[in-house]
Amino acid sequence: MLAERMKHLSGSKTTGMRNLARKLRAEGVRVVNFAAGELDQDTSPGIKQAAKQAIDAGRTQYTDTLGIAELRERLAQKITRKTGIPYGVDEVGFSAGAKQALFNAAFVLFQPGDEVIIPAPYWVTFPEQVRLAGATPVFLPTQHHDFQIDVEELVKCITPRTRGIVLNSPHNPTGAVYPAHTLEAIARLTIQHDLLCIFDECYEELLYAPAVHHNIVKLVPEMKDRTVLVGSFSKTYCIAGWRAGIVAAPGPILKAISNLQSHTASNTCNIVQYAALAALDPSQEAFVAAIRAQLCAQRATALQLIEKVPGLPCVVPMGAFYLFPEISSLLGKSVKGQRIENVDRLAELLLEHAHIAIVPGSAFGADRYIRISYAIPTEEIVAGLTQLERFVRSLA
Ligand SMILES: Cc1ncc(COP(=O)(O)O)c(C=O)c1O
Repeated sequence: MLAERMKHLSGSKTTGMRNLARKLRAEGVRVVNFAAGELDQDTSPGIKQAAKQAIDAGRTQYTDTLGIAELRERLAQKITRKTGIPYGVDEVGFSAGAKQALFNAAFVLFQPGDEVIIPAPYWVTFPEQVRLAGATPVFLPTQHHDFQIDVEELVKCITPRTRGIVLNSPHNPTGAVYPAHTLEAIARLTIQHDLLCIFDECYEELLYAPAVHHNIVKLVPEMKDRTVLVGSFSKTYCIAGWRAGIVAAPGPILKAISNLQSHTASNTCNIVQYAALAALDPSQEAFVAAIRAQLCAQRATALQLIEKVPGLPCVVPMGAFYLFPEISSLLGKSVKGQRIENVDRLAELLLEHAHIAIVPGSAFGADRYIRISYAIPTEEIVAGLTQLERFVRSLA
């Protein structure tokens, strides 16, 4: 009954675990939800006020597909400042979250016969979007390099069919932040092989000293012509459900994105556009700094506790808000007679016996890992990771 392209597309596993945790909670079980991909707190009063004012001012109409002029003007200034390269209003746009921007980018750039390189582990949606565009994802393993990209291994992935690469830094799920020399080397390869680059920097504001975020266009300005930059308001301003994302690309690519979006979603929510305008005001920088400081403290707590769990080595994340420990040592063990056959089973057993929801690494192409979000209250982190330690120590 369904179209061929839907046959292998399943729903996002991260959403699946979240729903399962919510269901258990509704049944009265106290579940610590480490599966969330967003911050567990309210947005700033200034952003809320802007949304309310937009409603009161009767902002009910459709807008231009990629956003109101004031917002695009502000986005162009932001991207120009960030890259050090001039971006005009016809090179930036507003989308329903980074996810829509990424889908639009994959859809307008890739086609059947193309190969698109994605470092693995990867954010769950990247390969699916590449497949939906008819292209083939090619995975570049990073596990053996603490989730950093080995450029020599990247070279080996490039074939005459390679059309592009999807990069994400700071990285979900691993917390890796790519250093300048890696991004410069990737940029050179991208230019040399005439490839395109989608550069997702949704977590650019959420990183921990001494890590520094590098934008690939800023490092290598010639990349502007072949790069789609994608950003998000979801995490930085705690408005994940409002759906607010940014896209920046050379004019012809942005025009194609606009044409595509004009036939799918049209513009994003008008009210959210005014909220985003407020979010970009310099007065909101203090809010973002507070979020960063809070996540930094939560990360320290989470790292301290995960270290106490035997057999769960964890690379220290330098950005975003996830731990990504390796769980190989737990496979084959049992809890109350139930065997941990694989990471998906581990996720179920953790929910059932330890009352903690995590995302199995299989969702990210890494079936010997689990993802733990520490963007939840400190007391929940402590309770949940203590339960994890107890669970691991009880395994037979
Ligand atoms: C790497 C990455 N890109 C994009 C997104 C999507 O963000 P948005 O809420 O802006 O669609 C996420 C959300 O988890 C993400 O982790």
